[in-house]
Amino acid sequence: MQEDPKVLKEEVLKDFAEYISPMKVRTMKSAGLDIIEERREGATVWDITGRKYIDCQTGSGIMNVGRHNREIASILKQALDTYDIGVFLLCSKQKADLAKKLAEITPGELKCTIFGVGGGEANDAAIKIARGYTMRTEIIYAKNAYHGHTGFSLSAIGRDAYKEPFEPLVPGFKMVPFGDADAIRDTINEDTAAVILEPIQGEGGIHISPDGYLADVRDICTKNETLLILDEIQTGFARTGKMFASEHWGVVPDIMTVAKSLGGGLYPISATIFTEEIMDFFIPHPFIHLSTFGGSDLGCIVGLAVIDYIEKHNLCEHAAEMGKRFRKGFDSLLKDYPDLLLEVRQMGLMMGLQYTNDSIGPRMTKKLSQRGVIAVYTGNDPSICRLMPPLVITEKEVDFVLNALEDSMAELSREAGIGRED
Ligand SMILES: Cc1ncc(COP(=O)(O)O)c(C=O)c1O
Repeated sequence: MQEDPKVLKEEVLKDFAEYISPMKVRTMKSAGLDIIEERREGATVWDITGRKYIDCQTGSGIMNVGRHNREIASILKQALDTYDIGVFLLCSKQKADLAKKLAEITPGELKCTIFGVGGGEANDAAIKIARGYTMRTEIIYAKNAYHGHTGFSLSAIGRDAYKEPFEPLVPGFKMVPFGDADAIRDTINEDTAAVILEPIQGEGGIHISPDGYLADVRDICTKNETLLILDEIQTGFARTGKMFASEHWGVVPDIMTVAKSLGGGLYPISATIFTEEIMDFFIPHPFIHLSTFGGSDLGCIVGLAVIDYIEKHNLCEHAAEMGKRFRKGFDSLLKDYPDLLLEVRQMGLMMGLQYTNDSIGPRMTKKLSQRGVIAVYTGNDPSICRLMPPLVITEKEVDFVLNALEDSMAELSREAGIGRED
């Protein structure tokens, strides 16, 4: 006899609490996010009890090509008939093919790649390359930045809570406010190896580079012979309506890092992409940075299939179109619920709702989950709801999310005794 799905769900949560994290289970339950995913397709997931949700969280942007993309999954299945992950020491066709494709789709002179498994690892490699190549030590990063929890990347996170228990961290990191080129101009010196930035801060709360900012930073870096590292781990692969967010401002970094959506939600892979000039550093020491699983043959096959899918299905254009449809709905919400919603920050399908106070994020998350939408407040700020649905989201699904937002806000205003402004 088949087990009752509700009983099964409780068993999973009990085991998760006992063997992985009781705190996580408690937090997920109180946020209405004690969802055990089962079937996944496009922008939709079904939990093990059969409840349906539109996923606007997507592991903070892993699923640009959609949940369990069948086309890419079948390419991976076919690859498994012949290949394994490959051996990191040997050259491989799969690695060469993906690196060549990345050189083709990234802007400017970006050309050479070091592969990794995750985003933090890609940023670690970027910072190592910057120090090794420039023979300088200092790294400038932004307040509220998020670059991963690994060694060098952790030092570049702009939030103390993630760092304090592990101090002393890697020395030589200097924090500046995000969006302020003058602060970088004042901080940079002849020992600055690199400035590392996200074009749009994701975890920090969807903060978009102000116009002119990245161009000014590019200019300052060039004048000081400092490398510019752009972390496109959340913003890359069509998320913002262009293949890479930095293209909106026409700014080309010396090093770009990508991860998350490159693996299509099916196989983890990351890449640190840099100019040929920087490759000079590796000539005397080609084996100075290694990753056993980085750029596995299977990961590279998936990465290529993901890029191919994005191009074939015009996901840049679709993300921009669906972003506009969301924007219309957000504009009505801004007008109707000024006591709840202060501002919307958005580029394509990278969207942040700035609520009027900290308590609204968790309450909205719960209400949205009750209405079949997974949308979570950001790690650094509970007053901001981040919406990053798969880029394959349909018009109907966009409208479903907007209706859920409207209903949740209406209910929240009634509870808070705030009248809707007509
Ligand atoms: C902008 C950015 N950089 C780096 C990372 C770290 O990636 P990973 O968790 O794969 O190490 C993240 C993860 O959310 C991110 O959003």
